[in-house]
Amino acid sequence: MTGATMQADYWHQKWADNKIGFHQERANKRLEHHWPELGLAGDETVFVPLCGKSLDMLWLHRQGLSVLGVELSEKAVQSFFSDNALTCEQHESDGFLVFTGTAEAQGIQILVGDYFSLTPDHLHHCKALYDRASLIAMNQDMRSSYAAHLGRLLAPGTRGLLLAISYDEGRMEGPPFSVPQENVHELLGEHFDIGELAHYSGPERLGNLADRGLETLDERVYVLTRNP
Ligand SMILES: C[S@@+](CC[C@H](N)C(=O)[O-])C[C@H]1O[C@@H](n2cnc3c(N)ncnc32)[C@H](O)[C@@H]1O
Repeated sequence: MTGATMQADYWHQKWADNKIGFHQERANKRLEHHWPELGLAGDETVFVPLCGKSLDMLWLHRQGLSVLGVELSEKAVQSFFSDNALTCEQHESDGFLVFTGTAEAQGIQILVGDYFSLTPDHLHHCKALYDRASLIAMNQDMRSSYAAHLGRLLAPGTRGLLLAISYDEGRMEGPPFSVPQENVHELLGEHFDIGELAHYSGPERLGNLADRGLETLDERVYVLTRNP
């Protein structure tokens, strides 16, 4: 079994067992607060890698943006549409099962399949990015491949938010993995201009990680711009 297959099995099992502690029952506060700081035109298509059934996609869509997500789990994507009483159509293309929102969900498209199988053609219309909990979902090796692929996929000028957490790795083993600032720069610095918009720190941010031995947690909000 390859590392990629093991990783896929891990996530399919999480969704099958409904062990999705990462899922938030409302749109992310950092997204709501910091998205306007990107200064986008407001009609972009936002690429949302490893999107799960995140309500952040709905929030982005409500701002007038289109959304293109990619997610391994078909169950997650089915739930995204059904939980939110949204309609969609499905078809297969390029090895992906494509869910295209209809009626009020028009403008939301989610590709079910492997992020690493995406090509720049899939994302040719995306000029914005929203990435929450992708880097922290992967070990260091996978994270490097993820970041290099993101550089290949996104066109110059694409701009977006990246949310990542970091913590004392002596106290807890991931996932979620700790992805400190230095690691973000090491992973993405070659292809992206990286700015730090905000840093939040303290035990009150632990949420469902409070039981895993951590005493505090750092959250950082970065703005990424794909280099020319
Ligand atoms: C930690 S969750 C984050 C989900 C979402 N971003 C959120 O904020 O709720 C990571 C998600 O990535 C998906 N995933 C993991 N590896 C993937 C891959 N190679 N391609 C597409 N999706 C993947 C998992 O199924 C899972 O739903």
